[in-house]
Amino acid sequence: MHRDTLIVHAGYRARGEPGPFLAGPQFSSTYTTPGDPADHALTYGRFHNPTWTVWEEALGVLEGGPVVAFASGMAAAAAVFGVTLRRGDVVALAADGYYAIRRLAATWLEALGVEVRLVPTRDAHLAPLDGVRLLWLETPSNPQLDVCDVRALAEEARARGVLVAVDNTTATAYLQQPLDLGATLVMASDTKALTGHSDLLLGHVATRDEALAAALRAWRTHHGAIPGPMEVWLAHRALPTLPLRLGRQCATAERLATALAARPDVAAVHYPGLPEHPAHEIARRQMRAFGTLVSFDLGTRARAEAFLGALAIAREATSFGGVHSIAERRARWGGDAISGGFIRFSVGCEAPEDIVADVEQALARAG
Ligand SMILES: Cc1ncc(COP(=O)(O)O)c(C=O)c1O
Repeated sequence: MHRDTLIVHAGYRARGEPGPFLAGPQFSSTYTTPGDPADHALTYGRFHNPTWTVWEEALGVLEGGPVVAFASGMAAAAAVFGVTLRRGDVVALAADGYYAIRRLAATWLEALGVEVRLVPTRDAHLAPLDGVRLLWLETPSNPQLDVCDVRALAEEARARGVLVAVDNTTATAYLQQPLDLGATLVMASDTKALTGHSDLLLGHVATRDEALAAALRAWRTHHGAIPGPMEVWLAHRALPTLPLRLGRQCATAERLATALAARPDVAAVHYPGLPEHPAHEIARRQMRAFGTLVSFDLGTRARAEAFLGALAIAREATSFGGVHSIAERRARWGGDAISGGFIRFSVGCEAPEDIVADVEQALARAG
């Protein structure tokens, strides 16, 4: 069966089974459990929840391996760090990856006695891997959309006994499957394109390593980093449309990036689908399509703000991957090596010609 068909049905009740296609969210902190707790499948809401179980099953279809769901992307990232790193270990992180993960490493991990080394995403193969316990990649990276070769890096890492984790948030498991490329762990914020409706926060980790999967489940239970049943149910409801949403969003993003790249008044356009992107060939090999984000540089903060103010459709907001187009001046948050005029544009499900026209008219008005 085609992957898109499998995704539409993933985690839903089987065809012949009576009842709703997807059972409603199960809200229960506790269950009736007389006697020995071991005699009961369900005992307490921090340990397990049937709404998570079918969601994890569905994500397993996308990732190609067992999944542990978390309350947010950051909860999932912290769990990966927590179960893989000990005092004296070294973690190598993509330097242009999501700033909050770098900040988490620089604060919490360093305080625990873990050495944090930053390596450029694009040239991560040049990173000195000796002594590294965990190599944390992010591809395409947020916000500069750099791409690294997961298969080549995972091979090199495996030969040196280094664990590889990939933050797959910008691509989603629909566009890129890092476990198949050799990564040991995949982490994603499902707050973004995977769920796509800008109404919830969730995250997950996938791994085929049973001991790591068990450690991640134990971490979730002990730290209480559990997803809410309502969020999980909403997320699951959004999953069957993922292929449709991403099909439209990626095609429009490609069209927008091409239009922007042809303009002399846009200093730099970052999109892995552009033939001139430095890692375009790698992206073609490891991604089904090139994602929903297009980043570009308008030179100055003033011009970027004028552009954002002139947009008629795309909303000025943070986050990305949703059905509504969103744009922001990324430097307003700090933490990234980008200019004050750097725009991160998340392409939604609106008509492609409307999005391109909106950006073009806003550029004209911004001067
Ligand atoms: C690449 C990346 N990883 C992780 C996260 C964290 O996810 P969450 O906000 O769901 O905690 C984000 C959020 O923007 C992100 O962009």
